[in-house]
Amino acid sequence: VEIDWDISMVDKGGYPHFMLKEINEQGAVLRRSMLDRIFHGEVDLSRELSWSSESAKRIKRLHLVACGTSYYAALVAERLIERFSDLDIRVDIASEYRYRDIPIGNDTLAVFVTQSGETLDTLAAERFAKEKGARCMAITNNGLSTVAREVDDVLSLKAGPEIGVAATKTFMGQMTVLYLMGLYLLKLREELSLGDEMRLVREMEVLPYKVESLIDRADEIKAIASRYCEARDFLFLGRGFSFPIAMEGALKLKEISYIHAEAYAAGEMKHGPIALLDRSVPVVVVMPDDNLFEKTLSNVQETKARNSPVIAIATEGRKSILGQAEDVMWVPKTDMELNPFLAVIPLQIFAYYVALAKGKEIDQPRNLAKSVTVE
Ligand code: G6P
Repeated sequence: VEIDWDISMVDKGGYPHFMLKEINEQGAVLRRSMLDRIFHGEVDLSRELSWSSESAKRIKRLHLVACGTSYYAALVAERLIERFSDLDIRVDIASEYRYRDIPIGNDTLAVFVTQSGETLDTLAAERFAKEKGARCMAITNNGLSTVAREVDDVLSLKAGPEIGVAATKTFMGQMTVLYLMGLYLLKLREELSLGDEMRLVREMEVLPYKVESLIDRADEIKAIASRYCEARDFLFLGRGFSFPIAMEGALKLKEISYIHAEAYAAGEMKHGPIALLDRSVPVVVVMPDDNLFEKTLSNVQETKARNSPVIAIATEGRKSILGQAEDVMWVPKTDMELNPFLAVIPLQIFAYYVALAKGKEIDQPRNLAKSVTVE
């Protein structure tokens, strides 16, 4: 009898790598992280957070602090919350935040986004904010972690263990929980209309199906990856909600394929990176349908004029992009604020298949650790 699997694959659920398994779990992670937090189209976190409308209204500053992929999830959430709120919002890298001289006090809600809850810089940043009187919250995949034990409030991702060093499903969980936290905070502060809340929540509830339909089409991304795996440099561009996704896409690619990948706000391309462009530098442009689509399209044209191949992440139905980009990774239509949940998926799959084609160590990339407990 021929056996085409070995025992080590059992934990991987039959997948060749944990990363691929974890990418495939993202629909389920979305569902789990919304479970018991949404009722009849409204967000309710009162089982987990003892916030009142008065305490929420006393908050003047919202700080979102994290490292790595978690930092990018925070940048996405910032863009959601700022649309509705007059809170003074700051998003910072933990290793910077902890050394800055910025106003933090008892009017500050400081949210630490950390998959592991053990990242040393994030822990130090949390102690720094707490010392200055901030109310501290952790958004983590480990409710028993050091950061979780030290803060006033904890929201758990419920993503299950993530083994691949390159974070995928926990990024999905972090965005979900950050959005729910943000919507709940806005609601208590009376800054969010019921109409906007229900629109976003209803669309979040259908995201898992859209995520799964995208993952089902991984072969299309695999084919694109096979055409670009010899490139030595990549540029990733995006605007608005898509800028942090461009950063996350570049990070995934460099982490596991060791290809140099740099992300820029699309509007900043003309201030430097455009000098690097030629036919050997593919440019990945995250440009789903939103209010900034036309602006980003002009960057695509500038890129093409320098002969760089363009790989676009675009919304299904946007046929016009076919004439502009060498390759297109299609994502289903959703609300502008929710595009990041879909646009990140093809980028994760792209990084995976580029690394696979190059024969790299996908789950355990060189020089990287799942959790960094040193400075
Ligand atoms: C390491 C991991 C990254 C992660 C970062 C922050 O660099 O390799 O995947 O995003 O730490 O980790 P945390 O556990 O705090 O989210």
